[in-house]
Amino acid sequence: MLAGSSGTKRTLIPPTDAPRAVSTETAAGERRVRVGLVGMGYIGSALHELIRDRFGALLEVAFVFDLDPGRLEGCRPEEVLDDLGRFGERQADLIVEAATAEVTRAHGLAFLAAGDYLPLSLSALVDPALERALSECAEHAGTRLLIPHGALAGLEGLEERRGSWESVTVTFRKDPLHIDFASVGGRPEIDGPTTLVDGSVREAARAYPRNLNAMIAAGLASGGLDRCRGIFVAEPGLDVHVAELDARAVDGSELRICKRQRIAGVSGTELPDAVIHSILRATSPGIGMQIV
Ligand SMILES: NC(=O)c1ccc[n+]([C@@H]2O[C@H](COP(=O)([O-])OP(=O)(O)OC[C@H]3O[C@@H](n4cnc5c(N)ncnc54)[C@H](O)[C@@H]3O)[C@@H](O)[C@H]2O)c1
Repeated sequence: MLAGSSGTKRTLIPPTDAPRAVSTETAAGERRVRVGLVGMGYIGSALHELIRDRFGALLEVAFVFDLDPGRLEGCRPEEVLDDLGRFGERQADLIVEAATAEVTRAHGLAFLAAGDYLPLSLSALVDPALERALSECAEHAGTRLLIPHGALAGLEGLEERRGSWESVTVTFRKDPLHIDFASVGGRPEIDGPTTLVDGSVREAARAYPRNLNAMIAAGLASGGLDRCRGIFVAEPGLDVHVAELDARAVDGSELRICKRQRIAGVSGTELPDAVIHSILRATSPGIGMQIV
């Protein structure tokens, strides 16, 4: 659990037998936050580098884990965890998932029973039973399910007025080369701008689970995945990821955001910086589900 987390731990799931965290201290005698990294691809390896090179005064790596050992070559041997089921031995305050939603399905409850958890693959939360179980586990354990704002900006504007929105629409546009079509059986022929899905965020994210994570964060921030509309457009030749948010409140207020971001693979190039700042924001107090 992060230093900023509040609440006495009442565990829904028995915690591991591991002793509590013994983080190293900074020169000023302050405790560094121990971060476990699951998934060392584009985002995970960049986070590892940021922690080592820029944020070592505040954060330290508790462990790194990836199914592909080749991804761990740049890490120190003592950082590498061979079996994710033994994460408790590394006494992480916070675990960040930068792999796939499968990690949350397999380990999310155990992570939350022991400390704070920040999953990037939010598509795990389209399953309402799992979302409820994770939130309840965090509340019982006095830990936090941290929802990163990720590829979208301005989610605090949605969250602050949650419940007052009459309609919220999030539209993502990407070149098909940066879309993961595995869930729909491969990339179709696309000649011009094509709407791949237009429905609730839950429906959209079920259809394209690797591409719409920040849309899910917007849904969670604004009042639920079924009340938020998600539109996903494949646009050949687009050299950025376009993320647009259009929210209208019952009192006639409006919130509009448009972000155009360079992209690498399925992720925007700003993601490592966005996630590091979510981790730093997570050092403030809180309990249960929280947008960071
Ligand atoms: N929340 C957001 O706004 C947002 C934005 C961009 C990407 N994402 C998500 O973040 C995740 C990581 O993105 P990326 O660009 O770094 O992907 P990536 O493909 O570059 O890296 C993923 C890494 O995870 C590893 N991996 C896969 N399954 C694993 C498992 N079960 N356990 C451990 N490791 C596993 C892979 O070997 C790979 O090294 C993706 O799921 C992506 O959809 C979220």
